[in-house]
Formats: sequence, structure tokens, C-alpha cells
Amino acid sequence: MQVDVEKLEQEARSELGRAETPEQLEELRVRYLGRSSELKLALREVRDRETGMSLNALRQSLEEAFEEKRSGLEHGELQRKLMAESVDVTLPGERIAEGRLHLITQIRREVEDVFLGLGYTIVDGREVETTHYNFDGLNMPPWHPTRSPAHSLFLSEDVLLRTETSPSQIRVMEAQDPPVYMISPGRVYRRDTPDATHSPVFHQVEGLAVDRGISLADLKGTLLHLMRALFGEKRELRFRTHYFPFTEPSIESDVSCHMCDGTGCPVCKQSGWIEMGGAGIVDPNVLEFVGYDPERVSGFAFGLGLERIALLRHRVPDIRLLWENDLRFSRQF
Ligand code: PHE
Repeated sequence: MQVDVEKLEQEARSELGRAETPEQLEELRVRYLGRSSELKLALREVRDRETGMSLNALRQSLEEAFEEKRSGLEHGELQRKLMAESVDVTLPGERIAEGRLHLITQIRREVEDVFLGLGYTIVDGREVETTHYNFDGLNMPPWHPTRSPAHSLFLSEDVLLRTETSPSQIRVMEAQDPPVYMISPGRVYRRDTPDATHSPVFHQVEGLAVDRGISLADLKGTLLHLMRALFGEKRELRFRTHYFPFTEPSIESDVSCHMCDGTGCPVCKQSGWIEMGGAGIVDPNVLEFVGYDPERVSGFAFGLGLERIALLRHRVPDIRLLWENDLRFSRQF
């Protein structure tokens, strides 16, 4: 078969020039360079060197032209896509909502930081407790009102949701010898009807220090240090006598009002002082209960309500706001 090399080349190149898509290009490649194309068939039948050389030269130049066209088309395709799918980097982005810690968590961490700085350890207590740790170990007499199902949430005869964080004092002292310097934050449960200042679930932080010669003065210095960290350097502290079965003497501590600096305002009900929580010197009966020698060591303990700190410091008018998880509220802190 005779092939007009020049004519074939001209024809192939002009067709190639008109190809616009990779599909059209492939069709042409099959037609001019495929297994049964005129050129390939002629190459197979070549007998003399000269024809062979000119046909091969044509094959090579056409292959190069096709390759060039192919990359040209691909490049154009890419450009077209880049233009069509381009991103305007000057448009404002989508705002990603940022999470934050709940106010109670923030305050718990502040308290923890203060006590870590004083060398205390942080201990997890148990929310489900036995009457042994929640009452007996805390020197509560059989007639004590919180032993009643009217006040506390019982799971069975001798298991209940703890009514205070104080049982963790007993567990810690049972597990180790003195000295003890620990705080234990967590939830506590009481059968209270929710209102602006009561919630059946709330958070306390228990504190306990047991060592040789611990006194009320140590308690006062420690609580004052905490109150100044939470409410500002100008705070003062005062103790009022009180009663708890597991401390003797027992006190309630008041901090000078952070709103009016003690001159009297609605927050402190004109008294200049705000009640902060219960505390006292660990009762010798409690030390004996855990196997400590009250002749050798003494200790102080305190309990603080975290919600109370939040309400006072941020003037939150209703404790229930802290439990509703309404983002409009929570976002403010
Ligand atoms: N557990 C007491 C309460 O919930 C507070 C307290 C703790 C008092 C430690 C004295 C010592 O009211």
C-alpha cells in the first residue's frame, strides 16, 4: 500500500488543529496512529529502507504533535476549572463557634490553683456514698436531721447521694497517715426545692489540713488567702461560732463585701459582710474514727459552695441560671 506521507501529515495536522476536547483528540489519535490506522498498516508492510524511514519519521512527528496537543488541552482544562472554581479569599470566612468553660468550672479551677500553690493535693470523692462515710464517720448522731429521707436522697437503706463533700475527709484520712493537705471538689445532693438560691444539686469544695499543731489561726490565714484570690486583695475575714458534728470548735466565716468594701449595700444586705461557708477544727472523735491520734495531730476543715461564690462575685440573680445551660447566659463569663 502506498502512502502519501505529505498529504497524510497535512491532513492529520489540520484535523489536530481543530480538536477541542480530550475526547476528540483521542478519536483522532486512533484514526491516525491507532493499530489499524493507514500509517500503522503501511509500516507493517514496509519493504524498503527509505519508505520505512519516512513513515517512521511521520509517526514520530505525529506522536509528538498529539502529545503537545494533549498537554495543551489538559492545561486549558485546568485553567478553565481554576477560573470557574476559584475562591475569593477576600470574602469573610465562616465564624467557628468557640467553646468556653462553664462559670462553675472556672471557679473550681481558680480554687484548685490557689490550693495547688499551697502544696495541697486535689482528691475526687464519691457522689454515691454510704451512710457510714456520709454520717457515722462525720460524728453525726442518730437523730441528725440530714439522716432523714425527707432531707437526703437515698438509693437504699444505707446508700445515698452525698449531702456534702465532707465524707471525702474520712476516705482520705483512712487511706493515708498525717500530714494531710487536700481539697476535694464535687457535686452534692439535697432534697431542696429549686428556687433563686437553692438547687437540689450543687458544688462544694472540701478542704482538710491535718498536721502537728494546726490551729484556727491556720484556718483563718488559709481561707483569707483564698478569699483574696477570689474577691480581691482588700478582703477581710471574720469568724462566727457555729455548730457542725465533725468540727469543734465550729465556725462560719464571713468575708468583707466585695461590692461596697464593707460599708453596706444590697449585696451584703447592708451588713458589710457576706457568709462564705462552714469550717472548724476537726473533732477528735473524727480523728479517732480514722485511726489518727488526737493527742499528736490536729486539723482544720472547711466547706465552700461554688454556686454561692459565682452568684456573689458575678451578681447572678438566680442559681438556676447556672444549671439551665442557656448559651446567652453562659457566654458572658
Ligand atoms: N459540710 C459542711 C456543710 O455542707 C461544711 C463544713 C465542711 C463544715 C467542713 C465544717 C467543716 O455545710
